[in-house]
Amino acid sequence: MNRYETLIEMALEARKLAYAPYSKFKVGAALLAKNTMIYKGCNVENASYPATNCAERTAIFSAVSEGQKEFVAIAIVGGKDGVGELEFCAPCGICRQVMREFCKPDKFEIILAKSTTDYKVYKLEELLPMSFGPENLA
Ligand code: THU
Repeated sequence: MNRYETLIEMALEARKLAYAPYSKFKVGAALLAKNTMIYKGCNVENASYPATNCAERTAIFSAVSEGQKEFVAIAIVGGKDGVGELEFCAPCGICRQVMREFCKPDKFEIILAKSTTDYKVYKLEELLPMSFGPENLA
């Protein structure tokens, strides 16, 4: 099993805990930190819709709250609950910007997966070109 497959499996596990009673769209993420730790996250919806947190941010905030701030890759899986096949679930704009805070745009890998064998890998800079980040405020 390559490192992408391990991360995808963990994202699939995380998705099982998604709390998505409103959209029924369940997302799981697994974030690989530089120190080899993996942090999982799922989407957590709210009756006040804007209070919803995406799976990616759940994973990133969990890692940062545990003292990790350097990341290598994130795997993301998502799709409507009860629908057999998953879709490639691209991170929303807010999550891309949160990744930008902690991840190197030319290095950080974003793995969009339907399964452990069907996935696409992008660099953050491909999904968030010409971005604004911490260096702009240094
Ligand atoms: N969602 C994520 O968790 N990550 C994404 O990359 C896209 C969208 C969630 C937010 C919300 O709970 C549901 O999917 C529908 O937007």
